[in-house]
Amino acid sequence: MKPRSLQQKSLPDSPVILLTGASSGIGLALAKALKRRPSTRAILTARTTSLSRLTDAGFEESDKLLIRPLDVTREDQRSELVQEINERWGGVDVLINNAGIAYRSVIEHMSPQEAVHQLSTNFLGPMELTRLVLPRMREKRAGRIINISSVSGMMAMPTMGTYTASKFALEGASESLWYEVKPWNIFVTLVQPGFIRSASFRNVYLSQRAREAMESDCAAYSPVYQRMQPFIERLMLRSRATPERIAELTLATLEQARPPLRFPATLDAKFFYLLRRLLPRKLYHSLLYYSLPGIREWGTEEAEEHKPRHQDR
Ligand SMILES: NC(=O)c1ccc[n+]([C@@H]2O[C@H](COP(=O)([O-])OP(=O)(O)OC[C@H]3O[C@@H](n4cnc5c(N)ncnc54)[C@H](OP(=O)(O)O)[C@@H]3O)[C@@H](O)[C@H]2O)c1
Repeated sequence: MKPRSLQQKSLPDSPVILLTGASSGIGLALAKALKRRPSTRAILTARTTSLSRLTDAGFEESDKLLIRPLDVTREDQRSELVQEINERWGGVDVLINNAGIAYRSVIEHMSPQEAVHQLSTNFLGPMELTRLVLPRMREKRAGRIINISSVSGMMAMPTMGTYTASKFALEGASESLWYEVKPWNIFVTLVQPGFIRSASFRNVYLSQRAREAMESDCAAYSPVYQRMQPFIERLMLRSRATPERIAELTLATLEQARPPLRFPATLDAKFFYLLRRLLPRKLYHSLLYYSLPGIREWGTEEAEEHKPRHQDR
């Protein structure tokens, strides 16, 4: 007979799936896909202010579907919700940490409060939620933690530094967790989408100082913002990947007995994954640097500002 720790259990026939950030984008697509899975018991969550978007989209509570408020940065909401699920359905079988925000700002323009907001939404909140659901998963010796990461969890781009830091943190912690919980037959998966054709760039947060620099034509970094912002928007609008496709790929991992720790979920994510693996680092960084839009203009305003006065005459 196999020792207890090696006995494999799959997910129950009617798994309990907790989804964060269900009000928009990938989260809403996941919510719609979960609704179509008759066997699933799902808890769709959104911030209190966004819950009405779920009812507007036609979601109604039933014996298999709960709609609950959850701001992932709020300890009270996280623990109340997990306690309710434990009492009602005996625990969460699958946690999908999807909720996320993206600050667009150079590192120099982020305030400590803005950095904490970014990191608590994309990293600290999801980790706390993970800590709350793990004890029941370990008791049942089965479970899935699915973290929606990003291509920014494998590479960095200018003006996305703190967002990238949040996804690198999520990737690092998830990788450690993968080793820690695998003996209980709990699998951790990082979904890494690249740019997605959605309106989520409209939800981007600008740091206060980034906003000021964008409104000015001569502040340091203004060419960086003026070139990067439309560049990123174009990449999103031209992308062939949709939130629905990411949702489909994410839920397909539930059918796998051994889902992968990471999977690049779009063509561009696969491309950057290969580029980073195959190119020597120095070459990779130079290639990316010289591909940045208007790179030769970057830094020119500051050079003007600091030019010694006698050169102006
Ligand atoms: N779009 C892309 O190109 C892309 C690419 C790679 C990775 N991703 C990742 O995919 C995930 C979903 O992004 P998306 O593109 O679908 O963006 P989105 O349309 O802006 O959706 C983000 C969701 O997160 C929710 N949210 C934000 N702060 C929250 C908080 N404190 N607590 C709970 N929910 C919160 C939002 O709710 P509200 O409606 O209340 O704001 C919204 O439902 C994110 O983790 C993102 O980093 C996106």
